[in-house]
Amino acid sequence: MTARISFEMQASDGLARTGVISTPRGEIRTPAFMPVGTAATVKAMMPESVRATGADILLGNTYHLMLRPGAERIDRLGGLHKFMNWDRPILTDSGGFQVMSLAGLRKLTEKGVTFKSHIDGSKHELTPERSMEIQKLLGSDIVMCFDECPALPATDKAVAESMRLSMRWAERSKEAFGDRPGHALFGIMQGGVTPELREESAEALKAIGFDGYAVGGLAVGEGQEAMFGVLDYAPGFLPEDKPRYLMGVGKPDDIVGAVKRGIDMMDCVLPSRSGRTGQVFTRRGVLNIKNARHQDDPRPIDEACSCPACSHYSRAYLHHVFRSQEIISSMLLTWHNLHYFQDIMAGMREAIAQGTFAQWEAGFHAGRAEGDI
Ligand code: GUN
Ligand code: ZN
Repeated sequence: MTARISFEMQASDGLARTGVISTPRGEIRTPAFMPVGTAATVKAMMPESVRATGADILLGNTYHLMLRPGAERIDRLGGLHKFMNWDRPILTDSGGFQVMSLAGLRKLTEKGVTFKSHIDGSKHELTPERSMEIQKLLGSDIVMCFDECPALPATDKAVAESMRLSMRWAERSKEAFGDRPGHALFGIMQGGVTPELREESAEALKAIGFDGYAVGGLAVGEGQEAMFGVLDYAPGFLPEDKPRYLMGVGKPDDIVGAVKRGIDMMDCVLPSRSGRTGQVFTRRGVLNIKNARHQDDPRPIDEACSCPACSHYSRAYLHHVFRSQEIISSMLLTWHNLHYFQDIMAGMREAIAQGTFAQWEAGFHAGRAEGDI
């Protein structure tokens, strides 16, 4: 695998873009939604089913996989793609963000972060160098820089210091990543909701030079309005000819608003996690299959959806298996949610290519205004 990873922008409509990221493991059509496969599985889904929903790429997590089953073990077993039976591209997050949200007893220094595992309390260290090593052992196609995302609320001074630390770590990440044809390294912009800090962060990343650029530090409780506020200017600080990835986003309307503002890639646990809690996303908004109003309803979740849950099962059945805690409930609802998210992405890609994104977006919002029927 010596081919370089490349990004070809094919069309734009307003600030929205559509294109293709080419990798030795296949093409990623953008805007792309990446299902989350934290622990080497998209929960409740076979990899071929994830592919059938329309996913071109999955996300994996350094933090979880280093703790269990261990990066060296996955490497000995032939890498993450073989281990989990997914031969298409995988992007891995670098671990710092998950340490801050999941691990116990953390200590942050210039060098990196030491923490206790949320699984067994064992002590571990992550640095930019170790994160690059782990992501290489996993065989990740798109590697993320090791960064720090400050917990909110934080003062401007704390956000600035954290961002500058992340930029020093970005430089060390690039150095440790080295030159790996066929694999990409993405930088991560930080800086909270302050334009000057976002710009400073973008300039630092561009000076180092990356294959793609992520917008980090959003969807951490600031709310949609504040997030869109940042997305109104932040993508404009980044190179136009490289993919832009908004980390950890989001709900369907967050995704549409992000693409409208120039974002090319996104990931979120929402469709898969919600599938396990009975929350269902449809073009008419959200419904909860747990609700008693579904128990005699012979209709599918959405008659216009072609997923297996909507093709072969009634709301009454899905309600029943959810209430009975049957495993097929998680399988079917996750499949539907992932299918719906990929449908949105495909719709946006097509609309951008045709120059009809505004009409597509109006239709998207009109459908949701109808509510579930
Ligand atoms: N996932 C969601 N937000 C972030 C972020 O700011 N940094 C990283 N590494 N991962 C994220
Ligand atoms: Zn469906």
